[in-house]
Amino acid sequence: MLKTLMGSIREYKRSSVLAAIFVTFEVILEVLIPYLMAKIIDVGMAQGSITYTILISLATIVAAFASLYCGASSGKYAANAAAGFAKNLRHDIFYSIQDFSFENIDKFSTSSLVTRLTTDITNIQNAYQMIVRVLVRAPIMLIFALIMAININAKLSLTFAVAIPILFVGLFAIAGNAFPYFRTVFKKYDRLNCVVQENVNAVRVVKAYVREDHEIDKFHGVSKEVYDKFKAAEKIVAFNAPLMQSVMYGAMIVMSLVGGKYIVYGDMLSGELTSLIVYTVMILSSLMMLSMIFVMILMARSSAERVVEVLNEKSTMTSPENAVTSVADGSIEFDNVSFGYSDDENKYVLTDINVKIKSGETIGIIGGTGSSKSSLVQLIPRLYDVKRGSVKVGGVDVRDYDIEALRDQVAMVLQKNVLFSGTIAENIRWGNEKASDEEVQRVCKLAQADSFVQEFPRKYETVLDQGGTNVSGGQKQRLCIARALLKKPKILILDDSTSAVDTKTDSLIRKAFREEIPNTTKLIIAQRVSSVEDADRIIVLDEGRIAGIGTSEELLKTNKIYQEVYYSQMKGAEK
Ligand SMILES: Nc1ncnc2c1ncn2[C@@H]1O[C@H](COP(=O)(O)OP(=O)(O)OP(=O)(O)O)[C@@H](O)[C@H]1O
Ligand SMILES: [Mg+2]
Repeated sequence: MLKTLMGSIREYKRSSVLAAIFVTFEVILEVLIPYLMAKIIDVGMAQGSITYTILISLATIVAAFASLYCGASSGKYAANAAAGFAKNLRHDIFYSIQDFSFENIDKFSTSSLVTRLTTDITNIQNAYQMIVRVLVRAPIMLIFALIMAININAKLSLTFAVAIPILFVGLFAIAGNAFPYFRTVFKKYDRLNCVVQENVNAVRVVKAYVREDHEIDKFHGVSKEVYDKFKAAEKIVAFNAPLMQSVMYGAMIVMSLVGGKYIVYGDMLSGELTSLIVYTVMILSSLMMLSMIFVMILMARSSAERVVEVLNEKSTMTSPENAVTSVADGSIEFDNVSFGYSDDENKYVLTDINVKIKSGETIGIIGGTGSSKSSLVQLIPRLYDVKRGSVKVGGVDVRDYDIEALRDQVAMVLQKNVLFSGTIAENIRWGNEKASDEEVQRVCKLAQADSFVQEFPRKYETVLDQGGTNVSGGQKQRLCIARALLKKPKILILDDSTSAVDTKTDSLIRKAFREEIPNTTKLIIAQRVSSVEDADRIIVLDEGRIAGIGTSEELLKTNKIYQEVYYSQMKGAEK
């Protein structure tokens, strides 16, 4: 896990090392200062030597400033290293997500990916900044201060033999008890993000159903859980300060009492006692720092695990070596295809699909909701891989193609389609960045979108809101079709893409397709019989199996499901 994470430090290794080096110097100088001060009191002042006092005082001041400089530099480098590390991590996660197949995306929820990209990375960043400074600082300070203290008075330093273990056990017991709470907090964060995201995305639905109160309750519930966990954790952590202070003051009292006696008997100098007390503070506070960083590392560990999980997630779909890079024609063949979203055979949503589609043919696909229409067509641009059998495009198994080359030729208007924030022209150009204005307009005409675009004051420069909420459902669908057409694909798949378009416009779109792109293979999924009636052939799907294939007339004679759908819809039309 660490190796994967460390891989993202890259160019910030230098800053990390510099931070550690500067902090080492800072600590050494800091530990030196009490020693120098003891010399001023015990030698300079006691012997009345002014030159010695001035000299050592100057040395002390220099050491103090040098330590300040080293501290500031290490802080600067540590912050830079941590921020850079976090930046690299965010990039790496983002790249990994871009490579994800639909199957990978199904595995992680959107909200958890967002938490990983934000909160988790911030945790790692904070922990890293602490690690490069404090994890170097605390042990060095502990050791050096101990050496100095023993050097001054070994007997008195025995106090540490009692104080350190007490503090160590106490602090780590606190940290260990608080950690499980911190860990659960992050799970709750996921949930919090999920609630917020769902709400914001679907704010219109929430309003339409007047569910604001319910949503607020839901949010309060999750928010309170996060609060409760934090409160529980902080309650335990709150014992840190009293524990630390009692041990520290206890040690100081012992030292003052015993040290005072030593001074009276002339076994120790008063300056030495002062510096010994300063070392006590240093030693015990470095222990405190260690315990704090221990909690921080543990907390960051669960964040790190979650980040590494995404980084290590292998895309379930990659282009093969020596991949085929050109698609010969728009023919499609399903050869004994079975498919499911999980490996469990009993849960397959498509079974034994066999069908051959010629290049340039128009195929209608019809079937009840959940009959696996979308699942069937998603196999063609290889959004998912088949479990059994094979799907061939242009005579070649889709798994042998370079994925990009295949998807460039198979344009699919997804059932749950989205437009992005930006102008209409920018959105259409998703299909082909280099397309000229004329081409953009041509595909919009084909998709019957040009006429309404022309009515907007800013025409193709009209800015769409996120998700395309400022155009109607039918207008959005037509823009999505235009976007797909701009790719000049050999195969065009429309998954229920004209459901919100009126029947007249729908038939105009199909007429334009027939006349303008006759050589493109067209697969049209629809709920309305009228949308597929004039197709060359219609596939009737029922519970993941093909229940019939043929022209509308043939199916009307032979296929019961088709008859039912046809007559129920025609009756509605007659009324
Ligand atoms: N990403 C997914 N993960 C798991 N199961 C899925 C997923 N997408 C669809 N399914 C399941 O696969 C089955 C077929 O769904 P599919 O979306 O293909 O039906 P459909 O015919 O397109 O329906 P509709 O007419 O409502 O669009 C359903 O039982 C559905 O629950
Ligand atoms: Mg569907």
